[in-house]
Amino acid sequence: MTSVEWVAGKIRFIDQTRLPCEEVIEETSDYTEVADAIKKLKIRGAPAIGVAAAFALLLAVEDKRILSAKDLEEELSTAINVLSQTRPTAVNLFTALNRMRRVCQSFSHTDVVTIRLHLIEEARCIQQEDVEACRKIGEHGAALIAPGSSILTHCNTGALATAGEGTAQSIITTAARQNKIVRVFVDETRPLFQGARLTSWELIKHGINVVLITDSTAGYLMQQRRVSAVIVGADRIAANGDTANKVGTYSLAVLAERHAVPFYVAAPTSTIDLGTESGSQIPVEQRNEEEVTHVGGKRIAAEGVKVYAPAFDVTPNQLITAIVTEAGVLKPSFREAIAGLRLQSSQQAVGPT
Ligand code: MRU
Repeated sequence: MTSVEWVAGKIRFIDQTRLPCEEVIEETSDYTEVADAIKKLKIRGAPAIGVAAAFALLLAVEDKRILSAKDLEEELSTAINVLSQTRPTAVNLFTALNRMRRVCQSFSHTDVVTIRLHLIEEARCIQQEDVEACRKIGEHGAALIAPGSSILTHCNTGALATAGEGTAQSIITTAARQNKIVRVFVDETRPLFQGARLTSWELIKHGINVVLITDSTAGYLMQQRRVSAVIVGADRIAANGDTANKVGTYSLAVLAERHAVPFYVAAPTSTIDLGTESGSQIPVEQRNEEEVTHVGGKRIAAEGVKVYAPAFDVTPNQLITAIVTEAGVLKPSFREAIAGLRLQSSQQAVGPT
């Protein structure tokens, strides 16, 4: 299953808000609809958002009325602004938009046909790099998993969230193929239930023994020594290794430290933001209060109650045992390990223009 695809000049994606009850594929040739789909979490997960945004820019510059390189650059810039305002935390979005902008700029002396061809090539490259990164993350990460392990994971980090087999989830599926996984505890992941709806659905398809828990059950499980390792994804990793991921991740890291359980973060290097020194600088998205007060469109909270709804939290690097990337397993000190990756400057995020 592919989360987002470029097919014959259109973008096709699975509407993740309707899973697992309905498998609805949407198709569009309007980049603003892709921006809307990202905002509404029809397309979600840091790497998948980056890939979708790159494809969306192709839609933005397809207009037959664009005749000059200058006009194309302007259209691209407008679309980059719209897309960069969809979700602030996942840095893969900005990394992908910047890469596309750079390609456009470096071919601005040519013609629209040439620029479009290079943009398509770059978008496909962003997608393909993620497929390969997921595969390697799975391989590197599975080597850390002992036979007979029970893994605890949070949110959704699988094929739905990436262009490939996933990040944290690729480690789980790879280790499962090596017969190392006894069970996977999946946090339901309030408020939008990415664990209950998406991760359980994906892992069951892989034939993995899945046990769904409420988010507040994790501490009790670790106290009973029933968790061998926690593996989570990331939306943005600062230069010092501080990691933003789905809200609730920090609590898991604190619990893991208390119970001496290894806490692994899995992410492609496109999620590392060298321009962000530490976690305190990571912008944390605030979501609509209805996502907390309502479940399945039905109000569950008292009328008049106030809501605080950050979509993400930040785990300090001191609580992370290792960060698994396609380039290998990073161990503390993360600042040195990340600097040692020698990431290109195109992987430094820049916000909206
Ligand atoms: O709000 P979401 O569902 O987009 O949040 C997703 C996560 O927090 C994932 O853990 C993260 O993007 C990594 S996905 C490989």
